[in-house]
Amino acid sequence: MARIRTLPDVLVSKIAAGEIVERPASVVKELIENSIDAGATRISIYLESGGKKLIRVVDNGHGMSRDDALMSIEQHATSKIRDIDDLFSIKTLGFRGEALPSIASVSRFRIVTGTEGSKSGTEIYVEGGVVRKVKEAASPGGSSVEVKNLFFNTPPRLKFLKKPETELGRVLEVIQREALSVPKISFEVFSDGNNIHRYGATESLEQRVAQIIPGTSLYSIGFEDETLMLRGYLGSPTDHRSSMRRLFTYVNSRPVRDRFINRIIMECYGRMLDKGKYPQGAIFIERPPSLVDVNVHPTKSEVIFEGQYEVGQSIRHAIEGMLADAPWMKNHKERTQRALGDFYERQKNSGFSQEDDYSKGITSAKTASLQAQHGFESTSPRSSQNISSVSEKSFQAKEKEMFSSGFYSSLRFLGQIGKLYLVCESTDGIILIDQHAAHERVNFERIKKSYIEGTFSYSQELLIPEVVELTVREINTARQFAEEMKKLGFDFEVFGENAVRIKSVPGFLRDSNYARVFSDLFDELDGLGDSKSLDEHLDNICATMACHSSITANYTLSEQEARTLFAYMDASENPHSCPHGRPVATCISYNMLEKMFKRT
Ligand SMILES: Nc1ncnc2c1ncn2[C@@H]1O[C@H](COP(=O)(O)OP(=O)(O)OP(=O)(O)O)[C@@H](O)[C@H]1O
Ligand SMILES: [Mg+2]
Repeated sequence: MARIRTLPDVLVSKIAAGEIVERPASVVKELIENSIDAGATRISIYLESGGKKLIRVVDNGHGMSRDDALMSIEQHATSKIRDIDDLFSIKTLGFRGEALPSIASVSRFRIVTGTEGSKSGTEIYVEGGVVRKVKEAASPGGSSVEVKNLFFNTPPRLKFLKKPETELGRVLEVIQREALSVPKISFEVFSDGNNIHRYGATESLEQRVAQIIPGTSLYSIGFEDETLMLRGYLGSPTDHRSSMRRLFTYVNSRPVRDRFINRIIMECYGRMLDKGKYPQGAIFIERPPSLVDVNVHPTKSEVIFEGQYEVGQSIRHAIEGMLADAPWMKNHKERTQRALGDFYERQKNSGFSQEDDYSKGITSAKTASLQAQHGFESTSPRSSQNISSVSEKSFQAKEKEMFSSGFYSSLRFLGQIGKLYLVCESTDGIILIDQHAAHERVNFERIKKSYIEGTFSYSQELLIPEVVELTVREINTARQFAEEMKKLGFDFEVFGENAVRIKSVPGFLRDSNYARVFSDLFDELDGLGDSKSLDEHLDNICATMACHSSITANYTLSEQEARTLFAYMDASENPHSCPHGRPVATCISYNMLEKMFKRT
């Protein structure tokens, strides 16, 4: 019996219309979703030239009869909904009956399909929307959909496509997103004849998440009430990424990119994450289909919840519950309290003295490394007579003048609070310096200068090459930029399906977490589009490297180290903001203090 029917006009007019096929990745998304809807347990994806020349998706789903196969390429023909009511209870990924005809109209399209148990199947060949051939064909059951020469008949759209590696990157990202929510389905991906990736079928979501977000500790989250069930796995704020590409969200198993959900996640992490940093993980929301509108956007990747506020609260509840209990939070609270306790204790007992050994117990190795890194001898503090007189104007207004006149070296270092902020005295008042932002700025300028001047000499060979697991998309980027990365002091080779073997790194990164450096750099490079050169994006790349080679929050800085840092800040071209644009220092002036204490 025919399963596919044409939708009535009144229903067609209610479906969010718009462009479905933008690039190879959108074709792959539609074909995989059809295979999932067809109950497949095995999906193979074959690509040539990043999908520009060929995309073939083969599944072992329920396949189609000859009549259904012919209907499937008709506009607005679907087996998934029948009438308007169905639009409010969608349980399948597809529902519009638009994907196959849209794809077939802009490619050389072939479908070979057969139902289980039938002796033979059907082959249909369509060229630019015109059916050229329909014949009986051998079929083992399931479907094989082939899309060749996408946009061959629409040259302007063809021109809009990027080079094969870039398109491949987008296709791989789509495959990751689709595969993540269906752990029982196995996926394999072939690109230009090579089997480049495989996700074996697994029993649990947790195992599939580990396949797709490798090398990351994730913590489970959960929430359940009558109308919403939420599960997920999220990473620590210290294990952040510079893009949202490793944060996957699903509503009723449908991959979505939903601003509302993303905003709530980011709000929960709040100040634990620096600006421009994102957590990793996956969140799966299940809600009765009648309370979720998926018919919002032609790409079906946005949803509107009925009872949005409650949904937001549930997500918040689940994430905050996990964060409150998380090991890094306990450490963070304890550390901050201890550091603040120390600070106040010292203030009570002896006030601040420059000779105070505030930083007892600090590893001298890090002091040495900070100095060695900059080839710098520690400076002795300047006497207060040398401090240039600074008027009572606001700090901001005087910024330029201060920084250009050895401002930081002239400060009296009082101590460190919260293992992050350096507290200093100037003639103007109290100066607070964010040690990470400050060091990042110094390193940024240094790395950029060495790259531009071609003096990037200190690549450090690792005695034992380190293997770092990356996502399939990151591996694709690694392959593309291997040569350029050499200029920055990185030497590595792709190792297996989802790892790189790092042979050398720039010397100043030798103590860093390579897995994080690599994924952050590849995130950055991934965003470059078609440009193969690093030069245009040097600031971003150098900022990422600077971030990883800089002292972090939670590092106790000695007075000597602080002074070294100050001298280097004075030598910087622009020490007042970090490479990401955040301020490095701020001032609580005597004026402000006098107002606070009602002295004026
Ligand atoms: N791989 C497949 N196996 C079995 N049937 C398929 C397969 N691909 C498509 N079909 C059938 O063809 C129909 C049309 O597919 P198409 O992707 O165009 O529309 P849809 O999935 O119903 O909705 P949407 O446009 O939202 O994707 C489907 O409803 C389904 O019945
Ligand atoms: Mg479909």
